[in-house]
Amino acid sequence: MDWGIDGKVVLVTGAAAGIGAEIARQFADAGARVYGADNDWTSSTESPSVTTLTLDVRDRDAVHRTVRQVVDGGGALDILVNNAGMMRARDSIFDYDESDWESTLAVNTSGLFFCLQAAAKVMREHRSAGSIVNVASGAGRTGRTFSPPYAASKAAVINITRSSALTLAADGIRVNAVAPGLIDTEFNRRLGVQFGESLGMTPEQHLSKRAEPVPLGRVGTAADVARVICFLASPLASYVTGQTVNVDGGLVLS
Ligand code: NAI
Repeated sequence: MDWGIDGKVVLVTGAAAGIGAEIARQFADAGARVYGADNDWTSSTESPSVTTLTLDVRDRDAVHRTVRQVVDGGGALDILVNNAGMMRARDSIFDYDESDWESTLAVNTSGLFFCLQAAAKVMREHRSAGSIVNVASGAGRTGRTFSPPYAASKAAVINITRSSALTLAADGIRVNAVAPGLIDTEFNRRLGVQFGESLGMTPEQHLSKRAEPVPLGRVGTAADVARVICFLASPLASYVTGQTVNVDGGLVLS
């Protein structure tokens, strides 16, 4: 499909695995010049069409340096996909400590905001019609989650999307988000290992069980999410800003 993003310079965070790796691949297939940033590339397979950068999004100075690096290499920054994220899940709400709370918000909320700030700054300097897509979560809408700190961090992403869309609209910069439901990545396989075992389930069985309430009747794929992100980032969505699109097979309705 021609998304109209041929030649655009794109930065994807959390690009070493799962949804982020697929987002990077789909942008590259659409002809974009893709930079993938992640703090852990150890188990990722290199792709010749993605320039890999090591970045911990929690480090605001490093975020600004990385965005500069992208602009120096690519000549601009047209699209940012704020995808890096993590979850720490405990058996009970009472088990979360300061580190669980702070590390979750540091990556999913503060890190995302630092990346948005740095990208919007250069988009404004370059007077380009920039586009930013944040990866939230259905947990940020419904509260249905393995981890209250995670749900809170993602609810904040939905709100940052609205407030920054309003603030940046005058500069021609659009900000949108997606709220994925249950997507088949290592993220859920880890939850399957953590919570499936005590129920006598393999991670695969645990994932299938969790998919039972999904109205469309299946677990989502990284490709399902990446396609919606490509659309929101592209000129095809040029009159859309401040929105969070559920990509969840209807789970939010059930
Ligand atoms: P994943 O765990 O497979 O991949 C996450 C990537 O983010 C990893 O490559 C990891 O190294 C990177 N990352 C983590 N902390 C980072 C940091 N401080 N700096 C830079 N990179 C960092 O997870 P998945 O499933 O691909 O998730 C991607 C996004 O989608 C996350 O924001 C997640 O919260 C969100 N999401 C995922 C859902 C799912 O069912 N898999 C559902 C809803 C939202």
